[in-house]
Amino acid sequence: MYAMASTELSDTPHRAGRRRGITFAATEVSRVLRELSEGSKSTPEQRWLRAVASRVTNARPDLSEELLKVLGVQPADSDPLRGLTIGEIGVCYEALLAEMGPAERRSSGQFFTPDDAAEFMASRSRDFGDGVWLDPCCGVGNLAWHLANFQSDPADFISRSLVLIDIDDVALRSAIALIAGDFAAPGDVGAVQLLSERAQRRDFLSAKPLPEHDFAILNPPYARAEPKMKFRTAACRDLFAYFIERLADTSRGYIAVTPASYLCAPKFQPLRSEIERHEKGGEIYVFDNVPDTLFRGYKFGSSNTSKTNFVRAAVTVCAPNADSWFITPIIRWKTAVRTTMFDQCSRLLAPLRHGRDGEWAKLSPGQAKIWDSLTDERVTLADLVVKGPTTHSLDVATTPRYFISAAFRELDRTTKVTLYFATAAYRDRAAVVLNSSVPYLWWRALDGGVTLPKRVLMSIPVPEVPNGARLVSALRRSEEENIVVKLNAGKHNENVKHPQSLVDLINDALIPEAEGLDVLYSNNMFPLG
Ligand SMILES: C[S@@+](CC[C@H](N)C(=O)[O-])C[C@H]1O[C@@H](n2cnc3c(N)ncnc32)[C@H](O)[C@@H]1O
Repeated sequence: MYAMASTELSDTPHRAGRRRGITFAATEVSRVLRELSEGSKSTPEQRWLRAVASRVTNARPDLSEELLKVLGVQPADSDPLRGLTIGEIGVCYEALLAEMGPAERRSSGQFFTPDDAAEFMASRSRDFGDGVWLDPCCGVGNLAWHLANFQSDPADFISRSLVLIDIDDVALRSAIALIAGDFAAPGDVGAVQLLSERAQRRDFLSAKPLPEHDFAILNPPYARAEPKMKFRTAACRDLFAYFIERLADTSRGYIAVTPASYLCAPKFQPLRSEIERHEKGGEIYVFDNVPDTLFRGYKFGSSNTSKTNFVRAAVTVCAPNADSWFITPIIRWKTAVRTTMFDQCSRLLAPLRHGRDGEWAKLSPGQAKIWDSLTDERVTLADLVVKGPTTHSLDVATTPRYFISAAFRELDRTTKVTLYFATAAYRDRAAVVLNSSVPYLWWRALDGGVTLPKRVLMSIPVPEVPNGARLVSALRRSEEENIVVKLNAGKHNENVKHPQSLVDLINDALIPEAEGLDVLYSNNMFPLG
């Protein structure tokens, strides 16, 4: 890995792919933008290309003529991108686009993959075998750069086996120059030419045939799109679904980072079907957005907040010979263990289970058995509730983060649902289940977003519990002592947080065979230190 084409190259400060995007400060982005705008009347695009030209020609005088042909400009006097990693350059380009027009940037969904996430994705290619790789929306080349860096012979890889595509001409030219500049062998102008000749500025979704490829690595645009009727995923109405569908049709395998919502949201069922129709197996890594998040959201200027840090991301890896599916729970980790998280998250992979409506359930290792018994249960909450109001009710807070519970008393809060039951017996049966770990496990597996959707709440299985009356008394007693109040935007929000010992007692009665529940609640699934 990280083979050097020559000793000269190893000394260049430009090839600093090892520095983590996470340490990149917003002040650095401002510095680059300031330097980019200094003393030049040309367009932002021209200034950007000239900055890329400075960086690559300073680093690679042996290739400068060919690299300048790719970029179509002369180098700037200064070298603002000097020493930055490819991920950091991506952040600066994103910031430049944001400055040029926030609305346009949002609509084209240009959010760039941080170095460590790109490195993680590239490392998943180890079982793919030889073949030509396509990056169909390469931006300034973050993913392709790390993929090249992962090869035993990056110089050979970029000459023969890498095809770059982007609709944005400036980004595409930058990607070709930055990747060739970092990986071409000394004096190998042919490598620059080959990479450049294969690259295409185009709409990846247009009908035009795609260049030949075996595999793809991609971070597609995430943007609501009009249904494109030529796609079987038209009903998903999102560009990333169309990208994946096309690659599922044309490639032998791919590695994609997308919003995790595709795993469970009903509107993405056509995409899930499409993936399962083409691939026999794969691995899906799901990343939460708290406490840390996969994408680093940078705030560019005062009116322009990047939305990337709100995205729960999924990395989907479909290797050509995979024959069964594995998925992680929604991975939570603290920033301090981010490197460990990437190194160890594959140990959280577990065989994929489906929800009743075809969702891909995000479970922890060891939870398959309990999942199977829960999905076999015929009675759901929807079967027990009535329209109401009745005198038998339960209040459930609908913005869970670390737990879900149900209260017999009325909760003073805005985000809640009141469930009504025809009889006290049905209410008590529901109360026991809703105060166990079942609803939280069910919600994390089938949603895990910001709110508890009615669809997910109502589908919770409600098995009958032996000795339920004893547990109901314990719950009622605990409720008196364990009301918690959070202040949110000046408003009190009540909830009930039962002690874990009581939740465990209910779990022992309801789901005695359950494993991995500690992982379920953890906000850091990796050891600190
Ligand atoms: C989310 S960025 C990803 C960039 C880079 N691959 C990364 O991981 O950081 C998405 C890229 O898709 C490009 N793009 C958007 N729509 C496209 C389309 N229809 N065809 C090709 N590229 C497109 C944008 O120009 C942008 O560079």
